[in-house]
Amino acid sequence: MQKTLRLENVTKRYGAMTAVDHLTLTVPSGIVFGLLGPNGAGKTTTLEMVEGLRRPDDGRVWWGELDVVRHPDEARSQFGVQLQSSAFFELLTVKETLELFHSFYRRRLAVSDLISRLGLEEKQNARVGGLSGGQRQRLALAAALINDPEVVFLDEPSAGLDPQARRNLWDVILGLKAEGRTVVLTTHYMEEAEVLADRLAIIDHGRVLDEGTPRELIQRHMPASVVEVSRSVGINSTVDLPAVRRMEERDEVTTLVSDRLEDTLVGLVNWAQREGRAITGLTTRNATLEDVFLELTGRSLRE
Ligand SMILES: Nc1ncnc2c1ncn2[C@@H]1O[C@H](COP(=O)(O)OP(=O)(O)OP(=O)(O)O)[C@@H](O)[C@H]1O
Ligand SMILES: [Mg+2]
Repeated sequence: MQKTLRLENVTKRYGAMTAVDHLTLTVPSGIVFGLLGPNGAGKTTTLEMVEGLRRPDDGRVWWGELDVVRHPDEARSQFGVQLQSSAFFELLTVKETLELFHSFYRRRLAVSDLISRLGLEEKQNARVGGLSGGQRQRLALAAALINDPEVVFLDEPSAGLDPQARRNLWDVILGLKAEGRTVVLTTHYMEEAEVLADRLAIIDHGRVLDEGTPRELIQRHMPASVVEVSRSVGINSTVDLPAVRRMEERDEVTTLVSDRLEDTLVGLVNWAQREGRAITGLTTRNATLEDVFLELTGRSLRE
């Protein structure tokens, strides 16, 4: 069972644009691996090449000893795939849809088990065309699991889900891992990446900017703390505070990334006293993956 997924120099060009640029990654068996990146970073294109749905212009993809680029059909029969937007027959019911998928495979899970695992019992006789976005998303995940796959690819599985449904989905994904499956997912949600992913690759412009566990990424790029104050305090880039690596003003909050929290706080208090300003809305926190992302790409994940 212990199969590794390997991408070697995988490249995809669309005309003059290189969507995926010599991407090399190894996904060990039995973990949740996250691909994190802004819109257009190349996440979906990468997944499609790994899934055997799109042929790379260059590079190799290995699932254990299987060459996915040369044997895409064989690879696909072993993979569970949830696309970013799934097409279904709108007139079939949920149950009929899963029964149809079920009929395609020899190795498979029971439809009724998948319906209950994804919480679709009440909708099993409803037509797919009438499902809400979140219900459709759950159907897509159930369909991805029908062939009892060792590796499951999920492209933004929680897009469009409400917070409760998102948490339920996280449980389902952690359950897949507990069963020994490998899960590769893309997400825009940092919290989701932090909760689910054992390892992450941060991708931008089709390249891996860095890769590691969430903790490693935070420590490598952000040994720093974050100080937030209300924007009305009047701190801006003309105010020279000690140990501030980066400052950002957004909505009502000014964010200071500090290499030495104590020095920055003392400097902030001294400045406020000198200028006769009240400090409001002061909080401090450890850096998060969101901060790492901003540091590496200069962009936030969803802007
Ligand atoms: N079929 C295609 N033809 C031409 N360009 C494409 C095609 N598919 C994707 N691209 C381009 O390749 C780049 C990467 O797209 P991709 O869909 O892989 O990004 P993504 O990281 O999945 O983005 P998102 O977060 O929006 O889903 C984008 O610039 C996109 O416009
Ligand atoms: Mg995408």
